[in-house]
This record gives sequence, structure tokens and C-alpha cells, in this order.
Amino acid sequence: MTSTPSAHPVLRVAGLSKTYGSGTRAFQAIADVSFEVRAGEIVCIVGPSGAGKTTLLKCLSGLLERSAGVIECAGETVRGTPRQMALVFQEYGRSLMPWLTVERNVMLPLRGKGIAEDEMQGRMRNSLAAVGLAQAAKKYPWQLSGGMQQRVAIARALAYRPEVLLMDEPFASVDAQTRMDLEDLVLQIRDEFAITIVFVTHDIEESIYLGDRVVVLSRSPTRVRRVVDVALGKGRNQVDTKGLPAFDEYRRELMSLLDRQIHRDATA
Ligand SMILES: Nc1ncnc2c1ncn2[C@@H]1O[C@H](COP(=O)(O)OP(=O)(O)OP(=O)(O)O)[C@@H](O)[C@H]1O
Ligand SMILES: [Mg+2]
Repeated sequence: MTSTPSAHPVLRVAGLSKTYGSGTRAFQAIADVSFEVRAGEIVCIVGPSGAGKTTLLKCLSGLLERSAGVIECAGETVRGTPRQMALVFQEYGRSLMPWLTVERNVMLPLRGKGIAEDEMQGRMRNSLAAVGLAQAAKKYPWQLSGGMQQRVAIARALAYRPEVLLMDEPFASVDAQTRMDLEDLVLQIRDEFAITIVFVTHDIEESIYLGDRVVVLSRSPTRVRRVVDVALGKGRNQVDTKGLPAFDEYRRELMSLLDRQIHRDATA
């Protein structure tokens, strides 16, 4: 069974390029990137370190201005940070406010948005429950493990009720077991909140396990090397899905795409 996301693209990126600085100091991080993300999909982005993955997410979210190309979210050109988007960064340690309790951290982005206090409290409880942290609402971030802190960051993004969630290597600094739990949490929230997710990772297996599609990027100035459809359907689980022969095939395909790139660089 394959997943059946709606055909409507929530996110459309066409001919995107990004150059930092200007003149002799100009550095082109993104040369030419195009891809689409349909409603309800998880699209993973993989590429070597320094390829421009974070730059890409920052352009998608409007935090960085693009140099050329088109980015559309829900049919509208992205200017500034679109209302429909939320971001989860890799460094959870720096993204939570240590002087605020978990519940206040989760409600922080909702303040000043004209949302009634009751509604804010309800969203906060609902999203903390979704990440399994209902009991931790009154704690401070520094009283939690790394994995729990990253769950708080996810809950904060969910409370914002985004249509699109952008995640930049969110599980790179947690242990392997926690990482698997958090991967399953991502699959669960995609279904529970009918959310669309763009997920950047270094980890090929993680990209196959989570992705409906995987966008493979080259080194910077980055281009799309290939977009791989992952036809593993829904209802994935760590043991059975990762044990499938098809999973191994995808791993081989993605590794060879990234390997060839290293080879080409070495002989360039
Ligand atoms: N503000 C900036 N000014 C100039 N160059 C930058 C800036 N930010 C990033 N770069 C450069 O752009 C390139 C892409 O960086 P980016 O952080 O997007 O890569 P990445 O794929 O996210 O890397 P990693 O996998 O290590 O997180 C790198 O060569 C980096 O040095
Ligand atoms: Mg990065």
C-alpha cells in the first residue's frame, strides 16, 4: 500500500537560488533547487554537511531572502514568515527559554496573536499530551532530558497549529533509542494533526523511514540530484519497516547517490 497524500502542493519551490553576501565576498550556497510538497506528505531533505540544507529551510520559512526563484506556500508567494509554518531547530537547548516553564514555553509563540487565554491553554495541553509530556507542564526545560526538551520544541510548534512543519536535523543530538521514539512521534503527529512536514536529516535511514519522498541534494552550491519516492506506505514501524527488502534497496540507492558525489568531488 502506498501513501495517498492529496495532489495539491502545499509548498512549491522552483528554481530557488541563494547567494550570501555580494561582490568579491559573494558565496552561492544554493544554485538551483526545485521540488513540491503535497498536503500530508513528509518530504525529507538529505545532503552532505554544508550543502545548504539549513539555508534552504530558512528560505522556505521566509527567515532568509532568496536570491532567485519561486517559493509558494498554500498557493501564495512566501514573503516574510508564512502564518501556516512552524520551525523546529536542531539545537533544542538554545530554542527553549530556560526561565520559563514548559507550559509557558509552549504558549510563548501564541502570545500577541489575538488568541484567547482559554484557547491558548487548550492548545498547550493538547500538544503536550500529543508528545507525551502532559505531566511535565510545570517543569523547567533544564529539568528535562534532551529528548524531552526536543518534545517540548515539537509541542510548541504544534500549538501554533501550522499547516507545514519544517524540521532541521531535530534529532541529531539525542541517543539512538530516543531518536527512534521521536521518529515515531513525527509519523504520529503527521497523522493526528494532518500536517505536512519538511524534514532535514543527515541520516539516510531516517529519511527513508519518515519520508514519502526524499530530496537528495548535492554539495554547495547545491542542486537537486534526485527526488526518490519512498513507496513504503503508512503504518510504518521501526522493526518491520526497516527489515523490508525494499528499505534496503532505498538505502542502497540513496547511499550511492551520496557516494558518487564524494567520488566526483575527490576527482574534480
Ligand atoms: N550567514 C552566512 N553567510 C555566509 N555564508 C553562509 C552563511 N550561512 C551559511 N553559509 C554557508 O552556506 C553553506 C551552506 O550552509 P548551511 O548551514 O545551509 O549548510 P547545511 O547543509 O545546513 O550544513 P549542516 O549539514 O552542517 O547543517 C556553507 O558553506 C556555509 O558556510
Ligand atoms: Mg544545517
